[in-house]
Amino acid sequence: MVAAPQLQDAVVTRMERHGSHFFTIGLRAGSIARQAEPGQFVMIAVHPQLAADSGFLAISSSWDPLLRRPFSIYRVNSAEEEIFLLGQATGRGSRILAAAVPGQVYSVLGPLGRPFRVEPGWKHLLLVGGGAGVAPLVFAGERFAARGIAVTVLFGFRNAGSVIGWEATSAWATSRYLVTEDGSAGKKGLVTDVLRRLLASASTTTTSTSSSGCDCGHGPAPTPARFDAILACGPAVMLKATAELARAAGVPCQVSAERTMGCGFGVCLSCVLPRPDGSYALVCQDGPVFASEEVDLSG
Ligand SMILES: Cc1cc2nc3c(=O)[nH]c(=O)nc-3n(C[C@H](O)[C@H](O)[C@H](O)COP(=O)(O)OP(=O)(O)OC[C@H]3O[C@@H](n4cnc5c(N)ncnc54)[C@H](O)[C@@H]3O)c2cc1C
Ligand code: FES
Repeated sequence: MVAAPQLQDAVVTRMERHGSHFFTIGLRAGSIARQAEPGQFVMIAVHPQLAADSGFLAISSSWDPLLRRPFSIYRVNSAEEEIFLLGQATGRGSRILAAAVPGQVYSVLGPLGRPFRVEPGWKHLLLVGGGAGVAPLVFAGERFAARGIAVTVLFGFRNAGSVIGWEATSAWATSRYLVTEDGSAGKKGLVTDVLRRLLASASTTTTSTSSSGCDCGHGPAPTPARFDAILACGPAVMLKATAELARAAGVPCQVSAERTMGCGFGVCLSCVLPRPDGSYALVCQDGPVFASEEVDLSG
């Protein structure tokens, strides 16, 4: 059962910037860190509540932007009760958060939403991620690999400068495939090019090793031949193509969807996503992780 969300004043423990657009932020988040499951997210108020590291309270005078912003949980350090978010500075809120410094305190609500689901007996997962969408997949891969499940990683980015979250996968991935649109890191192309090939070879082989496309740096590792499921997160067009390829190959696929969110817990109705039967799902409550056939990914 998914834990009830908590509101925490979370101290920034670490802040790293990657290139001009990406950052990872560590937050001491108490029970959110203890209860978070892969695929869940937090809503963070992007203005600091207290002054840095001062020992006295200095409540921020700014409530702008008013609405919290949703970010997937990227990694968890349970021992230190830390969560990590991997952010891309795309607009006002994420740019403010990108300027956070250790010691500041941010109000965080979470963990929210339905996580990725792994059935008993699944032995091999394929993670398909694009851009900042790799964030929940890194948490998923780390957690599920620790349970003894083989995890193949396929991540795609625009170029070498936007590769993010890749290094974190080297500790637990069985096989890794990196692609960039311009070929400046890994193979040139789209994740769906490699996905098509991986699904075709999985359906024709009985054993599998890290293949020529593997960019993992260590020797071939035997992996189960078939994928029991695909877990995907990234741009809508990538999710739709991934879901179609998975369906054609007969492999269950879960997608983590994104919508603009006002509240994160089912009240404001800003995050609707159509279902194939014409009804609507709330991404914050019914998702963000859906079985791919549960939702209409074309919108
Ligand atoms: C469940 C969930 C998990 C997410 N996880 C991550 C994550 O791990 N890392 C990350 O970098 N981003 C993530 N996002 C997207 C992130 O929430 C938005 O980029 C952020 O809210 C933008 O806020 P802003 O104030 O910077 O931008 P704004 O000024 O509000 O908008 C800038 C641009 O971002 C787009 N945008 C705004 N809100 C969202 C949104 N909720 N989803 C998608 N696009 C949006 C706008 O359409 C606009 O193009 C996630 C979104 C959801 C719904
Ligand atoms: S974000 Fe408010 S209902 Fe989903």
